[in-house]
Amino acid sequence: MRAGLGSFPRAQLAPLPTPLEDCPRLTEHLGGPRILIKRDDATLAGAGGNKVRKLEYLLGKAQADGADTVITFGAVQTNHGRQTSAACARLGLRCQLVLTELVPRSDDAYLRSGNMLLDNIFGAELHVCSGESETAETFQRLMAEAEKEARNVAVLPLGGSDAVGVLGYVNAAAELTGQLAERGTTASKIVTPCSSGGTVAGLVLGTALLGRDVPIHAACVSHTASETEQTVAKLLADAADMLGVHTPSLDRVRFDDSVLGAGYGIPDERVWRAIRLVGTTTGIPLDPVYSGKAAALLIDTVSGNGDGDPVVFLHTGGMPGLFGYAADAPAELAAAAKTTS
Ligand SMILES: Cc1ncc(COP(=O)(O)O)c(C=O)c1O
Repeated sequence: MRAGLGSFPRAQLAPLPTPLEDCPRLTEHLGGPRILIKRDDATLAGAGGNKVRKLEYLLGKAQADGADTVITFGAVQTNHGRQTSAACARLGLRCQLVLTELVPRSDDAYLRSGNMLLDNIFGAELHVCSGESETAETFQRLMAEAEKEARNVAVLPLGGSDAVGVLGYVNAAAELTGQLAERGTTASKIVTPCSSGGTVAGLVLGTALLGRDVPIHAACVSHTASETEQTVAKLLADAADMLGVHTPSLDRVRFDDSVLGAGYGIPDERVWRAIRLVGTTTGIPLDPVYSGKAAALLIDTVSGNGDGDPVVFLHTGGMPGLFGYAADAPAELAAAAKTTS
Protein backbone atom coordinates (compact mmCIF):
# COMPACT_ATOMS: atom_id res chain seq x y z
CA MET A 1 0.00 0.00 0.00
CA ARG A 2 1.43 3.37 -1.02
CA ALA A 3 -0.51 5.34 1.59
CA GLY A 4 -1.95 3.87 4.81
CA LEU A 5 -5.24 5.19 6.14
CA GLY A 6 -3.42 6.88 9.00
CA SER A 7 -1.61 9.17 6.55
CA PHE A 8 -4.85 10.95 5.55
CA PRO A 9 -5.99 13.94 7.62
CA ARG A 10 -9.06 13.08 9.65
CA ALA A 11 -11.51 15.11 11.72
CA GLN A 12 -12.81 13.16 14.73
CA LEU A 13 -16.58 13.30 14.44
CA ALA A 14 -17.96 9.91 15.47
CA PRO A 15 -17.61 7.81 18.63
CA LEU A 16 -16.36 4.58 17.03
CA PRO A 17 -16.86 1.67 16.87
CA THR A 18 -20.61 1.88 16.32
CA PRO A 19 -22.52 -0.99 17.97
CA LEU A 20 -23.14 -4.30 16.22
CA GLU A 21 -26.47 -5.41 17.62
CA ASP A 22 -28.07 -8.83 17.77
CA CYS A 23 -31.74 -8.81 16.73
CA PRO A 24 -33.20 -12.05 18.09
CA ARG A 25 -36.86 -11.12 17.60
CA LEU A 26 -36.34 -10.00 14.00
CA THR A 27 -34.25 -13.13 13.34
CA GLU A 28 -36.97 -15.33 14.79
CA HIS A 29 -39.69 -13.56 12.82
CA LEU A 30 -37.83 -14.00 9.53
CA GLY A 31 -36.92 -17.63 10.23
CA GLY A 32 -33.57 -17.34 8.48
CA PRO A 33 -29.97 -16.69 9.55
CA ARG A 34 -29.11 -14.58 12.60
CA ILE A 35 -29.46 -10.87 11.79
CA LEU A 36 -26.93 -8.41 13.17
CA ILE A 37 -27.48 -4.69 12.68
CA LYS A 38 -24.39 -2.50 12.37
CA ARG A 39 -25.57 0.77 13.88
CA ASP A 40 -24.01 3.41 11.66
CA ASP A 41 -27.11 5.45 12.37
CA ALA A 42 -25.36 5.93 15.74
CA THR A 43 -22.38 7.96 14.53
CA LEU A 44 -23.94 10.83 16.51
CA ALA A 45 -22.79 13.99 14.69
CA GLY A 46 -25.93 15.77 13.47
CA ALA A 47 -28.13 12.82 14.51
CA GLY A 48 -25.79 10.34 12.83
CA GLY A 49 -25.63 8.26 9.67
CA ASN A 50 -23.14 6.88 7.19
CA LYS A 51 -21.93 10.28 5.95
CA VAL A 52 -20.20 11.04 9.24
CA ARG A 53 -17.54 8.41 8.51
CA LYS A 54 -16.93 9.92 5.06
CA LEU A 55 -16.93 13.45 6.49
CA GLU A 56 -14.17 12.57 8.93
CA TYR A 57 -11.84 12.27 5.92
CA LEU A 58 -13.50 14.85 3.64
CA LEU A 59 -13.48 17.56 6.29
CA GLY A 60 -10.08 16.47 7.59
CA LYS A 61 -8.76 17.21 4.10
CA ALA A 62 -10.76 20.45 3.86
CA GLN A 63 -9.24 21.68 7.11
CA ALA A 64 -5.74 20.61 6.04
CA ASP A 65 -6.30 22.59 2.81
CA GLY A 66 -7.25 25.67 4.86
CA ALA A 67 -10.93 25.74 3.87
CA ASP A 68 -13.28 28.10 5.70
CA THR A 69 -16.39 27.28 3.67
CA VAL A 70 -17.95 24.00 2.59
CA ILE A 71 -20.37 23.68 -0.31
CA THR A 72 -22.17 20.43 -1.01
CA PHE A 73 -25.24 19.10 -2.80
CA GLY A 74 -28.24 16.85 -2.38
CA ALA A 75 -31.99 16.42 -2.55
CA VAL A 76 -34.18 18.61 -0.33
CA GLN A 77 -34.19 15.97 2.43
CA THR A 78 -30.51 15.06 2.00
CA ASN A 79 -29.01 13.23 4.98
CA HIS A 80 -25.56 14.02 3.67
CA GLY A 81 -26.37 17.73 3.79
CA ARG A 82 -27.67 17.47 7.35
CA GLN A 83 -24.59 15.60 8.60
CA THR A 84 -22.32 18.01 6.72
CA SER A 85 -24.12 21.00 8.31
CA ALA A 86 -23.64 19.53 11.77
CA ALA A 87 -19.99 18.60 11.23
CA CYS A 88 -19.28 22.09 9.87
CA ALA A 89 -20.97 23.65 12.90
CA ARG A 90 -18.75 21.56 15.14
CA LEU A 91 -15.57 22.47 13.24
CA GLY A 92 -16.43 26.16 12.75
CA LEU A 93 -16.79 26.01 8.96
CA ARG A 94 -19.41 27.92 6.95
CA CYS A 95 -21.74 25.45 5.25
CA GLN A 96 -23.73 26.13 2.08
CA LEU A 97 -26.11 23.44 0.82
CA VAL A 98 -27.26 23.49 -2.81
CA LEU A 99 -30.44 21.40 -2.73
CA THR A 100 -32.38 20.13 -5.75
CA GLU A 101 -36.06 19.24 -5.81
CA LEU A 102 -35.51 15.65 -6.95
CA VAL A 103 -38.43 13.99 -5.20
CA PRO A 104 -42.00 14.77 -6.36
CA ARG A 105 -43.23 16.01 -2.98
CA SER A 106 -44.20 19.56 -2.10
CA ASP A 107 -46.03 19.15 1.22
CA ASP A 108 -45.02 21.19 4.20
CA ALA A 109 -43.43 18.34 6.16
CA TYR A 110 -41.19 17.39 3.23
CA LEU A 111 -40.12 20.96 2.54
CA ARG A 112 -39.61 22.12 6.12
CA SER A 113 -39.32 19.26 8.62
CA GLY A 114 -36.86 16.39 9.06
CA ASN A 115 -33.44 17.12 7.63
CA MET A 116 -34.44 20.63 6.52
CA LEU A 117 -35.30 21.60 10.09
CA LEU A 118 -32.00 20.20 11.36
CA ASP A 119 -30.02 21.96 8.60
CA ASN A 120 -31.45 25.21 9.93
CA ILE A 121 -30.61 24.32 13.52
CA PHE A 122 -27.01 23.60 12.51
CA GLY A 123 -26.79 26.98 10.78
CA ALA A 124 -26.36 25.88 7.16
CA GLU A 125 -27.31 28.28 4.35
CA LEU A 126 -29.90 26.53 2.20
CA HIS A 127 -30.34 27.16 -1.53
CA VAL A 128 -33.28 25.17 -2.92
CA CYS A 129 -33.23 24.77 -6.71
CA SER A 130 -35.97 23.44 -8.96
CA GLY A 131 -33.78 21.48 -11.36
CA GLU A 132 -30.29 20.75 -12.65
CA SER A 133 -29.71 24.03 -14.46
CA GLU A 134 -30.75 26.14 -11.45
CA THR A 135 -28.50 23.93 -9.28
CA ALA A 136 -25.52 24.54 -11.59
CA GLU A 137 -26.19 28.30 -11.75
CA THR A 138 -26.55 28.54 -7.96
CA PHE A 139 -23.29 26.68 -7.44
CA GLN A 140 -21.48 29.02 -9.87
CA ARG A 141 -22.94 32.05 -8.10
CA LEU A 142 -21.84 30.79 -4.64
CA MET A 143 -18.34 30.07 -5.95
CA ALA A 144 -18.12 33.56 -7.50
CA GLU A 145 -19.29 35.17 -4.23
CA ALA A 146 -16.74 33.16 -2.25
CA GLU A 147 -13.97 34.25 -4.61
CA LYS A 148 -14.98 37.90 -4.26
CA GLU A 149 -14.89 37.54 -0.48
CA ALA A 150 -11.54 35.68 -0.62
CA ARG A 151 -13.02 32.63 1.07
CA ASN A 152 -11.37 29.22 0.66
CA VAL A 153 -14.06 26.72 -0.42
CA ALA A 154 -14.04 22.93 -0.12
CA VAL A 155 -16.59 21.48 -2.55
CA LEU A 156 -17.82 18.09 -1.36
CA PRO A 157 -19.42 15.69 -3.84
CA LEU A 158 -23.01 14.47 -3.74
CA GLY A 159 -23.37 11.94 -0.93
CA GLY A 160 -19.76 12.59 0.15
CA SER A 161 -18.70 9.99 -2.40
CA ASP A 162 -15.25 10.43 -3.85
CA ALA A 163 -11.99 8.58 -3.23
CA VAL A 164 -11.40 10.46 0.03
CA GLY A 165 -14.94 9.85 1.33
CA VAL A 166 -14.61 6.14 0.50
CA LEU A 167 -11.88 5.90 3.17
CA GLY A 168 -14.56 6.18 5.86
CA TYR A 169 -15.95 2.83 4.79
CA VAL A 170 -12.56 1.22 4.25
CA ASN A 171 -12.17 1.91 7.95
CA ALA A 172 -15.69 0.72 8.76
CA ALA A 173 -14.98 -2.61 7.02
CA ALA A 174 -12.04 -3.20 9.35
CA GLU A 175 -14.14 -2.20 12.36
CA LEU A 176 -16.95 -4.60 11.41
CA THR A 177 -14.55 -7.45 10.66
CA GLY A 178 -13.02 -7.01 14.13
CA GLN A 179 -16.44 -7.01 15.81
CA LEU A 180 -17.44 -10.21 14.01
CA ALA A 181 -14.12 -11.83 14.96
CA GLU A 182 -14.71 -10.91 18.62
CA ARG A 183 -17.97 -12.87 18.38
CA GLY A 184 -16.10 -15.77 16.76
CA THR A 185 -18.02 -15.48 13.52
CA THR A 186 -17.98 -14.05 10.02
CA ALA A 187 -20.84 -12.63 7.96
CA SER A 188 -22.48 -14.59 5.18
CA LYS A 189 -23.29 -11.25 3.60
CA ILE A 190 -23.70 -7.55 4.25
CA VAL A 191 -26.94 -5.89 3.14
CA THR A 192 -26.78 -2.12 2.65
CA PRO A 193 -28.52 0.67 0.79
CA CYS A 194 -26.54 2.13 -2.10
CA SER A 195 -26.93 5.47 -3.85
CA SER A 196 -23.85 7.65 -4.49
CA GLY A 197 -21.76 4.50 -4.00
CA GLY A 198 -19.10 5.48 -1.47
CA THR A 199 -20.35 3.14 1.23
CA VAL A 200 -20.27 0.03 -0.95
CA ALA A 201 -16.96 1.02 -2.60
CA GLY A 202 -15.38 1.41 0.85
CA LEU A 203 -16.78 -1.89 2.13
CA VAL A 204 -15.48 -3.72 -0.95
CA LEU A 205 -12.04 -2.15 -0.71
CA GLY A 206 -11.77 -2.49 3.06
CA THR A 207 -12.79 -6.14 3.16
CA ALA A 208 -10.56 -6.96 0.17
CA LEU A 209 -7.56 -5.36 1.90
CA LEU A 210 -8.25 -7.64 4.88
CA GLY A 211 -8.60 -10.68 2.63
CA ARG A 212 -12.25 -11.12 3.63
CA ASP A 213 -14.30 -11.31 0.48
CA VAL A 214 -17.70 -11.17 2.15
CA PRO A 215 -20.61 -10.94 -0.30
CA ILE A 216 -22.39 -7.59 -0.36
CA HIS A 217 -26.01 -7.15 -1.34
CA ALA A 218 -26.49 -3.54 -2.39
CA ALA A 219 -30.04 -2.20 -2.47
CA CYS A 220 -30.01 0.42 -5.23
CA VAL A 221 -32.29 3.20 -4.00
CA SER A 222 -31.73 5.95 -6.55
CA HIS A 223 -30.50 4.45 -9.85
CA THR A 224 -30.72 1.18 -11.73
CA ALA A 225 -28.41 -1.67 -10.78
CA SER A 226 -26.16 -1.17 -13.82
CA GLU A 227 -25.87 2.62 -13.31
CA THR A 228 -25.07 2.08 -9.63
CA GLU A 229 -22.48 -0.56 -10.45
CA GLN A 230 -20.70 1.83 -12.82
CA THR A 231 -20.64 4.53 -10.16
CA VAL A 232 -19.22 2.15 -7.54
CA ALA A 233 -16.64 0.75 -9.99
CA LYS A 234 -15.27 4.24 -10.65
CA LEU A 235 -15.10 5.14 -6.94
CA LEU A 236 -13.44 1.84 -6.14
CA ALA A 237 -10.79 2.34 -8.83
CA ASP A 238 -10.16 5.94 -7.70
CA ALA A 239 -9.83 4.98 -4.04
CA ALA A 240 -7.60 1.97 -4.78
CA ASP A 241 -5.42 4.19 -6.94
CA MET A 242 -5.17 6.81 -4.18
CA LEU A 243 -4.05 4.10 -1.71
CA GLY A 244 -1.73 2.52 -4.27
CA VAL A 245 -3.39 -0.90 -4.14
CA HIS A 246 -4.85 -3.24 -6.74
CA THR A 247 -8.52 -2.51 -7.57
CA PRO A 248 -10.59 -5.42 -6.25
CA SER A 249 -13.30 -7.04 -8.32
CA LEU A 250 -16.97 -6.24 -7.84
CA ASP A 251 -17.93 -9.85 -8.52
CA ARG A 252 -19.10 -10.48 -4.98
CA VAL A 253 -21.42 -7.46 -4.96
CA ARG A 254 -24.97 -7.99 -6.04
CA PHE A 255 -26.45 -4.68 -7.20
CA ASP A 256 -30.18 -5.10 -6.80
CA ASP A 257 -32.74 -2.50 -7.86
CA SER A 258 -35.77 -4.65 -7.03
CA VAL A 259 -36.71 -2.24 -4.21
CA LEU A 260 -36.16 0.96 -6.20
CA GLY A 261 -39.91 1.02 -6.92
CA ALA A 262 -41.08 4.21 -8.63
CA GLY A 263 -37.74 5.90 -7.93
CA TYR A 264 -35.58 7.80 -5.46
CA GLY A 265 -37.48 8.96 -2.41
CA ILE A 266 -40.66 7.11 -3.36
CA PRO A 267 -41.33 4.26 -0.91
CA ASP A 268 -43.89 1.57 -1.75
CA GLU A 269 -45.86 -0.64 0.63
CA ARG A 270 -42.97 -3.16 0.95
CA VAL A 271 -40.84 -0.38 2.41
CA TRP A 272 -43.44 0.68 4.98
CA ARG A 273 -43.94 -2.97 5.93
CA ALA A 274 -40.19 -3.34 6.42
CA ILE A 275 -40.00 -0.17 8.53
CA ARG A 276 -42.84 -1.43 10.70
CA LEU A 277 -41.47 -4.95 11.04
CA VAL A 278 -37.97 -3.77 12.03
CA GLY A 279 -39.49 -1.16 14.34
CA THR A 280 -41.78 -3.61 16.12
CA THR A 281 -39.18 -6.35 16.54
CA THR A 282 -36.06 -4.29 17.35
CA GLY A 283 -37.09 -0.77 18.39
CA ILE A 284 -34.76 0.55 15.68
CA PRO A 285 -36.12 3.30 13.42
CA LEU A 286 -35.50 3.14 9.66
CA ASP A 287 -36.26 5.71 6.96
CA PRO A 288 -38.36 5.37 3.79
CA VAL A 289 -35.64 6.47 1.33
CA TYR A 290 -32.58 4.35 2.19
CA SER A 291 -32.61 1.96 5.15
CA GLY A 292 -36.30 1.06 4.73
CA LYS A 293 -35.71 0.04 1.10
CA ALA A 294 -32.63 -1.99 2.07
CA ALA A 295 -34.60 -3.65 4.89
CA ALA A 296 -37.30 -4.64 2.38
CA LEU A 297 -34.56 -6.37 0.38
CA LEU A 298 -33.15 -8.02 3.52
CA ILE A 299 -36.58 -9.37 4.44
CA ASP A 300 -37.20 -10.63 0.89
CA THR A 301 -33.91 -12.47 0.70
CA VAL A 302 -33.37 -13.95 4.16
CA SER A 303 -36.91 -15.01 5.10
CA GLY A 304 -36.95 -18.76 5.72
CA ASN A 305 -33.51 -19.03 4.18
CA GLY A 306 -31.46 -21.42 6.34
CA ASP A 307 -29.34 -20.67 9.39
CA GLY A 308 -25.80 -20.18 8.08
CA ASP A 309 -23.43 -17.41 9.20
CA PRO A 310 -25.10 -14.17 10.32
CA VAL A 311 -26.27 -11.57 7.86
CA VAL A 312 -25.16 -8.04 8.69
CA PHE A 313 -27.63 -5.28 7.92
CA LEU A 314 -25.75 -1.99 7.70
CA HIS A 315 -28.01 0.68 9.14
CA THR A 316 -26.79 3.79 7.37
CA GLY A 317 -29.12 6.16 9.23
CA GLY A 318 -31.56 8.59 7.64
CA MET A 319 -34.20 8.56 10.35
CA PRO A 320 -34.67 12.38 10.35
CA GLY A 321 -35.87 12.04 6.74
CA LEU A 322 -38.80 9.99 8.04
CA PHE A 323 -40.37 13.17 9.38
CA GLY A 324 -40.40 14.58 5.86
CA TYR A 325 -42.95 11.83 5.12
CA ALA A 326 -45.22 12.70 8.05
CA ALA A 327 -48.09 13.51 5.67
CA ASP A 328 -48.56 9.90 4.60
CA ALA A 329 -46.55 7.79 7.08
CA PRO A 330 -49.43 7.16 9.56
CA ALA A 331 -51.75 5.77 6.86
CA GLU A 332 -48.94 3.74 5.26
CA LEU A 333 -47.94 2.28 8.63
CA ALA A 334 -51.55 1.48 9.50
CA ALA A 335 -51.88 -0.38 6.19
CA ALA A 336 -48.59 -2.18 6.91
CA ALA A 337 -49.88 -3.20 10.36
CA LYS A 338 -52.72 -5.13 8.70
CA THR A 339 -50.27 -7.30 6.78
CA THR A 340 -47.35 -7.73 9.21
CA SER A 341 -48.92 -8.45 12.60
C1 LIG B 1 -29.33 7.13 5.14
C2 LIG B 1 -28.50 6.83 3.94
N1 LIG B 1 -28.26 5.55 3.63
C3 LIG B 1 -27.53 5.19 2.56
C4 LIG B 1 -27.03 6.15 1.72
C5 LIG B 1 -26.28 5.68 0.53
O1 LIG B 1 -24.92 5.68 0.75
P1 LIG B 1 -23.96 5.95 -0.47
O2 LIG B 1 -24.37 7.30 -1.00
O3 LIG B 1 -22.62 5.91 0.10
O4 LIG B 1 -24.23 4.91 -1.49
C6 LIG B 1 -27.25 7.50 2.00
C7 LIG B 1 -26.70 8.51 1.09
O5 LIG B 1 -27.28 9.41 0.65
C8 LIG B 1 -28.00 7.85 3.13
O6 LIG B 1 -28.26 9.12 3.44
